[in-house]
Amino acid sequence: MIMLEKSLLVGQGLHRDVYQHPENPKLCLKVRMDRDRVNRGDQEEQREQTYYRLLAKRGVPWEGIPEFHGNVETNLGPAAVFELIRDADGTVSRTLEHYLADARITEAHLNELIFELNQLKNYLLRHNVITMSLKPKNIVFQRLADDQWRCVIIDNIGNSDWIPLMTYVPLFGRIKIRRKWQDFERRLKRMYPLNDAVLRMLKFI
Ligand SMILES: Nc1ncnc2c1ncn2[C@@H]1O[C@H](COP(=O)(O)OP(=O)(O)OP(=O)(O)O)[C@@H](O)[C@H]1O
Ligand SMILES: [Mg+2]
Repeated sequence: MIMLEKSLLVGQGLHRDVYQHPENPKLCLKVRMDRDRVNRGDQEEQREQTYYRLLAKRGVPWEGIPEFHGNVETNLGPAAVFELIRDADGTVSRTLEHYLADARITEAHLNELIFELNQLKNYLLRHNVITMSLKPKNIVFQRLADDQWRCVIIDNIGNSDWIPLMTYVPLFGRIKIRRKWQDFERRLKRMYPLNDAVLRMLKFI
């Protein structure tokens, strides 16, 4: 059993606490928290893992999403193990929320944000990777080198539709991906109405 402690905590969402693996800095463990506000059970996790297995079988490269490494037991309960996305300097990569919350920061990275968001969209379309809602808190902007960046979706992968046509028929998948991307653009516009750099960015993604 893996022992987790607060000092290893690297992120928190509404449903999961994310810890760095105590022995492997390249991995993180996601532990479900049954916070009383929200409890979507482990159904969501099952859906995510089923979808990950499908992508692995298809041989999709782990460029736009972190690799999944199975489940383990911890002192805090069962955990799902994923690749932990880090910048070149070793710090855990920050989410788009960080880069979009302040117009000066967005402006400073505008070119690479535009380029990498387009890369991410193309990755999803090329490999038919379906997502649920795309949100800035669920995408990290990884700095691989001074002039090399990458967007990685760290949460909300997969399809909740009852008839999984999108998952198995690429044409339907592409329609779905484009629709999710449009929703994402609308969400950014809504979330950052006063960030002029975000509004300019949206013209190019
Ligand atoms: N693979 C990863 N690499 C780097 N950071 C990560 C990774 N996975 C999660 N994080 C960080 O931890 C936070 C919470 O993780 P995650 O989004 O998976 O939790 P969640 O509870 O499912 O989220 P939500 O509130 O969107 O449902 C993220 O916003 C991100 O900052
Ligand atoms: Mg999340």
